[in-house]
Amino acid sequence: RWVTVLAGGLSHERDVSLRSGRRVSAALRSTGVTVEEWDADAALLPRLREHRPDAVVVALHGGEGENGSIQTILELLDIPYVGTDADACRRAWDKPTAKAELARAGLLTPDWVVLPHSTFRELGAQPVLDAMVERLGLPMMLKPDQGGSALGAQVVRDAADLPTAMVGCLAYSDTVLAERYVEGTEVAVTVIDTPDGPLALPAVEITAHNGVYDYTARYTAGLTEFHAPARLPEETAAKVADLAVSAHRLLGLRDISRTDAVVDRDGDVHFLEVNLSPGLTETSLVPMAVEAAGRSLGEIYAGLVDRAIT
Ligand code: DAL
Ligand code: MG
Repeated sequence: RWVTVLAGGLSHERDVSLRSGRRVSAALRSTGVTVEEWDADAALLPRLREHRPDAVVVALHGGEGENGSIQTILELLDIPYVGTDADACRRAWDKPTAKAELARAGLLTPDWVVLPHSTFRELGAQPVLDAMVERLGLPMMLKPDQGGSALGAQVVRDAADLPTAMVGCLAYSDTVLAERYVEGTEVAVTVIDTPDGPLALPAVEITAHNGVYDYTARYTAGLTEFHAPARLPEETAAKVADLAVSAHRLLGLRDISRTDAVVDRDGDVHFLEVNLSPGLTETSLVPMAVEAAGRSLGEIYAGLVDRAIT
């Protein structure tokens, strides 16, 4: 039995993915699984056809790794893989679509507005920005509608900073997701499928030293403080776990996901986004949750590979 770990790719998160790929490959090897690490490049399809691994672990982040593209290829070739299927990826990868689906199901998520770039051209930037501030208030969170690792995402505290923040965000996507900013405790919850259903691992609490958990704060050791498990009252911790399991189920996610959420001052839990191929680097959240659960990444991924094959 041998497994291909797909990493790299051409998204903005290529470097992160290479690190995740190395980490999960080493973890799998430590359990005795034979692993080859492949980049997702133009040679991938013929290579998959010719060598047909028993299963693929998708450690690609962003773009084709999470929007269903690679998953579609693997489904076309009938190669089993770890992770969410193509159809659910397409929906959950789009942050506004995921928020809308979960809000419809009754989950809390910060009020939001979706704005294609063209809106600003057609209606004039300032009136649109003014209407956004009126609706969402400040601070406001801007995110590319699709993307990861906080690239292009910004917290805007002052209306005067909004145009520049908007331009920064639009550099990563043609559509912006603007959200009301919820003050509170940021948490990330890993969910893993088990024979008994989806299981939430202990939540990881995130405190970025400069207040913003951006790309640098994510991937530079020491810039962010983590607590796993999160320092939450038992009842709140249970709510956080429920939210992540609900998101995993409602969005039809498979094998592993990570839900990012914020606990406000009243203890209410707000859904922010799901990650279909969560980071597995040395500073990423899933490995911390796995450790807090007293488990190992290798054991978990070896189990997911078995599930994918059988
Ligand atoms: N998008 C990055 C890899 C994460 O969610 O961890
Ligand atoms: Mg994300």
